[in-house]
Amino acid sequence: MKTQFSALTFLLACFATKAASVSITDIQGNSFLSPLVGQFVEGIVTAKGTSGFWIQSPPSDDVRVSNGLSIFTSTKTILAQVNLGDLVSLNGFVNEFHTDATVLSVTEIGSPSNITVLSSNNTVTPIVLGVDRSPPTQLYSALDTGPNGFLSLPGNTSQVEAVNVPLQPSLYSLDFWESLEGQLVTVPNSTVINFQNSFGEIWAYGEWPVTGKNSRGGLTLTANLVGQVDANPETIIIGSPLDGTKNPKVTIGTKLTTITGVIQYQFGFYYIMPLTAPAIVSSLPAASPTTITPNSTDACVVVIGYYNVENLSSTSPSHINAIATHIAQFLRTPDLVFVQEIQDNNGPTECDLGVAR
Ligand SMILES: *[C@@H]1O[C@H](CO)[C@@H](O)[C@H](O)[C@H]1NC(C)=O
Ligand SMILES: *[C@@H]1O[C@H](CO)[C@@H](O)[C@H](O)[C@H]1NC(C)=O
Ligand SMILES: *[C@@H]1O[C@H](CO)[C@@H](O)[C@H](O)[C@H]1NC(C)=O
Ligand SMILES: *[C@@H]1O[C@H](CO)[C@@H](O)[C@H](O)[C@H]1NC(C)=O
Ligand SMILES: *[C@@H]1O[C@H](CO)[C@@H](O)[C@H](O)[C@H]1NC(C)=O
Ligand SMILES: *[C@@H]1O[C@H](CO)[C@@H](O)[C@H](O)[C@H]1NC(C)=O
Repeated sequence: MKTQFSALTFLLACFATKAASVSITDIQGNSFLSPLVGQFVEGIVTAKGTSGFWIQSPPSDDVRVSNGLSIFTSTKTILAQVNLGDLVSLNGFVNEFHTDATVLSVTEIGSPSNITVLSSNNTVTPIVLGVDRSPPTQLYSALDTGPNGFLSLPGNTSQVEAVNVPLQPSLYSLDFWESLEGQLVTVPNSTVINFQNSFGEIWAYGEWPVTGKNSRGGLTLTANLVGQVDANPETIIIGSPLDGTKNPKVTIGTKLTTITGVIQYQFGFYYIMPLTAPAIVSSLPAASPTTITPNSTDACVVVIGYYNVENLSSTSPSHINAIATHIAQFLRTPDLVFVQEIQDNNGPTECDLGVAR
């Protein structure tokens, strides 16, 4: 793939001096990889962060084709030239940027130059997810065949690009999110399905149909329409807000205010990069589950429990006491407990072979 693309880059680079303008929709195309490497493109600035900005042009009639585009640059003087709402023209090369071979690439313009602001204060109306378009809820990609679906090995997303089939966004969620790559969207009233990660990023779904919704608002893995595990691909990650504000701290079931931002693929997942941080509308109480293991009086039944004791060490009695209470009360003292993340004889030091003490 790489070799093929270098050849294409070189070929179209030769045409770049002719300064023929190409449209964003021509660059995005209807499949995972761009059919073009570009030269001269125009669009309205919809979003701006510290590592680039996004532009958008009038939409294509083809729902598979995104009309948004990422312009990659972390050069402060270039970023200072553009503001949200500017109609800009610029020169640059279309890249299919890969962080590594096993993930999808991002269609982007690298090294933008000759940036001209043609007009200011233009507005771009975001498409509203759940109203204008909704993600498929069950199937992830056309390559997830067989009984294990998306869990099948080698689980190599980039193979979707090796075949580079036209997108089927009404059926497969990977295709759905790709068809919105770089585009400004609104995610109304989202519900959080996990704690934020260490970067403050949050998995969530908006006000659109979902499958496997449980009593807390999380999404349980159920069987999909062809009997595979449903990957719940109707979810998206809320990335770090582009204006430098911080996402709130959340738990499963937290409801957030409506978010507007651009769809961006990074680190192996599709993200919405919010223009600004959402606020919390409501959160559920952090109550522990009341029943996990059943009581059994049958001598032939062994009850097995499992607990991630999170860096448990002999030097932290309060942590030990809390875990002991949880095992007794919430796990109801199983016959056998598997623990994970317990410190060994050399304490917190990482080593290949742990020795218990
Ligand atoms: C720079 O952009 C302008 C349009 O804003 C265009 O007319 C011109 O050809 C571009 N220059 C080059 C070297 O491509
Ligand atoms: C854009 O809008 C802002 C705020 O309404 C205004 O201050 C500014 O003058 C406008 N710029 C142009 C170029 O119209
Ligand atoms: C992933 O797929 C690509 C393209 O088919 C292939 O070159 C690469 O070796 C695969 N990597 C893994 C880890 O399977
Ligand atoms: C978001 O929630 C508000 C308040 O509950 C509601 O009025 C609005 O219709 C919701 N938006 C969408 C797009 O469903
Ligand atoms: C199960 O065992 C716990 C702890 O011994 C006890 O509090 C609870 O009442 C028991 N529940 C049932 C249904 O027997
Ligand atoms: C684990 O605990 C040790 C102290 O025993 C502490 O130094 C270390 O930072 C902890 N690691 C994490 C990841 O919390």
